[in-house]
Amino acid sequence: MPDTRTTPTSATQTLADSLTIVDNRTGSRYKLPITDGTLRAADLRHIRVSEDDFGLMAYDPGLTNTASCRSGITRLDGERGVLEHRGYPIEQLAERSTYLEVAYLLVHGELPSSRQYEDWVEAVTHHTYVHENVKSFISGFRYDAHPMGILQASVAALSTFYPDSARLDDPDIVREQVVRIIAKMPTIAAFAYRHSRGLPYIYPDNDLTYTGNFLSMLWKFSEPSYAPDPRVERALDVLWILHADHEQNCSTSAVRSVGSSRVDPYSAIAAGIAALYGPLHGGANEAVIQMLRGIERPEAVPAFVAGVKRGDERLMGFGHRVYRNYDPRAAIIKKSTMDVLDATGGNPLLEVATELERIALEDDYFISRKLYPNVDFYSGLIYQALGIPAEMFTVMFAIPRASGWVAQWLEMQGDPEQKITRPRQVYVGAPRRDYVDFAHRTGDRP
Ligand code: ACO
Repeated sequence: MPDTRTTPTSATQTLADSLTIVDNRTGSRYKLPITDGTLRAADLRHIRVSEDDFGLMAYDPGLTNTASCRSGITRLDGERGVLEHRGYPIEQLAERSTYLEVAYLLVHGELPSSRQYEDWVEAVTHHTYVHENVKSFISGFRYDAHPMGILQASVAALSTFYPDSARLDDPDIVREQVVRIIAKMPTIAAFAYRHSRGLPYIYPDNDLTYTGNFLSMLWKFSEPSYAPDPRVERALDVLWILHADHEQNCSTSAVRSVGSSRVDPYSAIAAGIAALYGPLHGGANEAVIQMLRGIERPEAVPAFVAGVKRGDERLMGFGHRVYRNYDPRAAIIKKSTMDVLDATGGNPLLEVATELERIALEDDYFISRKLYPNVDFYSGLIYQALGIPAEMFTVMFAIPRASGWVAQWLEMQGDPEQKITRPRQVYVGAPRRDYVDFAHRTGDRP
């Protein structure tokens, strides 16, 4: 007779909040609780064929259908094109907030009072300087070192400058590292850029805004103080609001995974930078620029789109793993692109981009597959208009994402359910066998 085994349920759970599974190997039935639309993967372990069986596991390469945490930071609804931070829609934040305020919101969970905001801006502004030795070791990189490599190594190295950062049990020390990370990212990023151009490093200017100071560290020459164009400063601020967090993406998962070992936050954030470095994650905006350059003229767009539909190419900057609707960030970025191009005098690729978007959005190939512009369709155009070279594009993404990474890292540290990340595997290698001496091995290995 098949038996029914119930995995532990809470007192409030009803039959409706559960899933009944029949194991056809044994005939046993199991009732697994459902909470927030999820099963606890560990509950599957109760499903066994024998006492010494390890129990059933979920197999999910790429974790495409696995929730690894409960999070109150960012809500993303890809079907409806919704993105909210701590409940606030991204459209309102981009319109009315500043990047540093959004960073505060992500980290603290609430919008700051005006006093809290002033203190926060002051704290971040006064931590923008880096130790002189950071400057020296950036100078030690090869002249053509990729700025993402420099950023990653330098952020990791900050843990050696602040050994206290390993003390995760002291909230004051933790808070100081959070401020330092957000404050020093633009400085290290700008130094990495100046290094690649053989230019002297420019120290932070504490009279400027967060983005204004970054522009100064990139572009200042011999003038006593750099005066950023307010339109460019604001457009960059909006761009950084849009990139601040995007829930459990590859780099954020890397930060959480590495941080779960309770290593210091610099080492965890450096892991996020490493993940973002990869072309499948942070590199799409550069590919958009290459694509637009290849198309060259608006008149050539129909032929390019026909090639995409034949499967000869991919329309870069279109489509998204999660969004099956217009990426809400893309609409906002389009407006910022216009503002920047107004200030910088235009970009011939913009015409190609707008024509490409127009034709694609009217074409059944893209409509039926729910392919819409994503955040990267226009961001490369902005960076290009600002004179930022392609190898810096991912660095420009990493600077604002640091606030999302630290917010997620903090949330994980305070979550009593979290454990060190340690997935299981399905072993498909050789069965147990005995070691063989060289003399008795046959053939050369490939
Ligand atoms: N151009 C042409 N066709 C596309 C595109 C595209 N950009 N994206 C998806 N498709 C097609 C696929 O070929 C597939 O067609 P089929 O059903 O005939 O086989 C269909 O649309 C569905 O695509 P999926 O396989 O569901 O898309 P997936 O979720 O695997 O990929 C991805 C998402 C990788 C972002 C993809 O859309 C893509 O390569 N886009 C271009 C690269 C890009 O812009 N990446 C940036 C993403 S945003 C970010 O990372 C910050």
